[in-house]
Amino acid sequence: MELLQVIRTSQPKSKPNEGELGFGKYFSDHMFVADYTSERGWHDARIIPYGPISLEPSAMVLHYGQEVFEGMKAYRGMNGEINLFRPEKNIQRMNMSCDRLGIPQVDPEWMLEAICKLVEIDGDWIPQRVENSLYIRPFIIATEPCLGVRAAKEYQLLIITSPVGAYYSSGLAPVSIYVEDQYVRAVRGGTGAAKTSINYASSIKAQEEAKSQGYSQVLWLDGIEQRYIEEVGSMNVFFKVAGEVITPELNGSILPGITRDSVIAMLKHWGIPVTERKVTVEELFEAHQQGKLEEAFGTGTAAVISPIGAMKWGEQSIQINEGHIGAVSGRLYDSITGIQQGKIDDPLHWRYLI
Ligand code: COI
Repeated sequence: MELLQVIRTSQPKSKPNEGELGFGKYFSDHMFVADYTSERGWHDARIIPYGPISLEPSAMVLHYGQEVFEGMKAYRGMNGEINLFRPEKNIQRMNMSCDRLGIPQVDPEWMLEAICKLVEIDGDWIPQRVENSLYIRPFIIATEPCLGVRAAKEYQLLIITSPVGAYYSSGLAPVSIYVEDQYVRAVRGGTGAAKTSINYASSIKAQEEAKSQGYSQVLWLDGIEQRYIEEVGSMNVFFKVAGEVITPELNGSILPGITRDSVIAMLKHWGIPVTERKVTVEELFEAHQQGKLEEAFGTGTAAVISPIGAMKWGEQSIQINEGHIGAVSGRLYDSITGIQQGKIDDPLHWRYLI
């Protein structure tokens, strides 16, 4: 499908102060929109001024949550060039999410072209400061007006972008978490591996309770035995135990994170042992008692690497690496952000130049 139309805004907005971006609070001047009907497939692709969309109150997404989304970033490189980071992976995952939610998939090449065109048009929204970036949020919603529970026949794909700074206002300072033993984020056979709003909606109550108790996030356990670690907050999770880095294996209820995949690949590239397998909470606390739990960190597009400095499980509370960021966590953060920002070599060919 061709990109049909570009309508540029006649009222460009003033840019926010780069020191106060936070995460996802400001939006650039344009957005990409395309429609889907069962008769015409994806059609009417257009880039138009960013603004409210019109939906019928009966739009199916508002009732049954048929939605998928992605998150990726564009960076301004050292010589003014614009880099994306492994965008084909996000598109592949979006199609996987679409499949799980009964939403029609998109043509990967067309989608990449749409992202690049939008980022180019709003290129002056890519922050100048190297630690900031332009967050790209593609999403698909079921727009058909109908209250029947079934796959919709009409959808809209939108891409919006937002200049962002650090996801956590505390930056790389290690966070405190507790093991969530009441709520679960996802179950086997559910939608945990898809990037869809429902997984995030179901995590919010637990997150609010954690915050009210002074913790940043919860450590999610599996939905069957509530024994195996799955994710931390909205991120994948890694532990360094006696020199080996371990992360829960993908089991259908864990999100296949692109930063997760990049961390595994980078560790292998460096020759640091890394294993994907089931990990229990007992095992971690035991490793801590034996002085073997060296580092813990979350991974995601928004924060990249988020060190975990303290963890509580029932009555037991432990500190990890004396509450400081670990050597491997720090090296991963510097390397992945260095590649994204175009500051260092890209040995695994992850940068995508627009
Ligand atoms: C990430 O990029 O780490 C996330 O999944 C969080 C995002 C939903 C804001």
